[in-house]
Amino acid sequence: MIIKNNISLKDLNTFGMSVVARKFVTIKSKKDLITVLNTNPSNILILGGGSNMLLTKDVDALVLHISIKGIKVISNSENNVRVEVAAGENWHEFVTWCLDKNYGGIENLSLIPGNVGTAPIQNIGAYGAELKDSFVSCQAIHVDTKELRTFTKKDCNFGYRNSIFKEELNGKYIITSVIFELSSHQHTTKINYGAIEAELKKNSVINPTIQDISTAVISIRNSKLPNPKVLGNCGSFFKNPVITYYKFKILKEQFPKIPHYIVSDTTVKIPAGWLIEIAGFKGKKFGNYGVHDKQALVLVNYGNASGKDLLELSIKIQKAVLIIFGINLESEVNIL
Ligand code: EPU
Repeated sequence: MIIKNNISLKDLNTFGMSVVARKFVTIKSKKDLITVLNTNPSNILILGGGSNMLLTKDVDALVLHISIKGIKVISNSENNVRVEVAAGENWHEFVTWCLDKNYGGIENLSLIPGNVGTAPIQNIGAYGAELKDSFVSCQAIHVDTKELRTFTKKDCNFGYRNSIFKEELNGKYIITSVIFELSSHQHTTKINYGAIEAELKKNSVINPTIQDISTAVISIRNSKLPNPKVLGNCGSFFKNPVITYYKFKILKEQFPKIPHYIVSDTTVKIPAGWLIEIAGFKGKKFGNYGVHDKQALVLVNYGNASGKDLLELSIKIQKAVLIIFGINLESEVNIL
């Protein structure tokens, strides 16, 4: 394990931001991690798949690139299997591994960029499923005390794109592995998310297997979301805002077609992509960066844009949405 100086992070963040890490180390085991933490670095940045961060400047911290690998079945029961996955495994490769073994539960989360160890932090979700649905526990190391702790699902306090690791324990722990519970024979499939049903119907699939669902999700994602290997992006840049039912009713008078999902008796979620589209940003290009033309929630780097450019664009969008709708958009990505 070698600490390197002045390493470019361009290929290690899906926005493709060309920034340099003053110090950088690849972590391949828990032992590596503890060894590095024992040197008491004053400032660290944890880097997983780099799929949820906008880097606006060079990183003046020791970057810990978590590359701990390994997937193993730890227990089997009649229809369930528990699998422990190391933090540095790529999320979609893990989904593919599960499909190969016919393990169900995370097929709706196919093709989400990023790594397994960072997935619980924002409770990744898509197409009617969230990580928390299959999550059992994770192991994490405390940055200061180096204590190894197991977090159960309850401990994680999962919410919409949220967990304890984004709130009170933000920056305090580094996740080293995650245990999932998956179905091994009879799968409970989730296809009632509109786009999946329509996609399956289009392909004349009647009783979908978990593989069929994954194929449908991949096809939907590819039609809307840019591939970060081709076009730099971090998926949804903002969270879908939750507003009061009272405010929703007022907005509906002005915008009768406003799409919405009822969250509770008093709250409603509005797709941020729609708000941004109505604000006139969808498909807008500002030189080498802009707003994706098929999904307004995704900001894109067409090549050599800076993090500051994208940050400015995101602020412009937030201001426009606030003026038009009186809604504050909260960024989903971490801005560094
Ligand atoms: N919409 C528009 N214009 C747009 C985009 C969306 O009008 O440009 C409206 C449409 O009414 C559409 C609705 O928004 O029906 C929902 O759009 P979509 O199904 O694409 O989902 P989303 O709410 O925009 C969320 C997640 C995505 C996830 C999809 C599918 C968040 C912040 N984003 O997007 O997650 O893939 O649902 O489940 O919750 C990510 O987190 O990076 C991500 C891509």
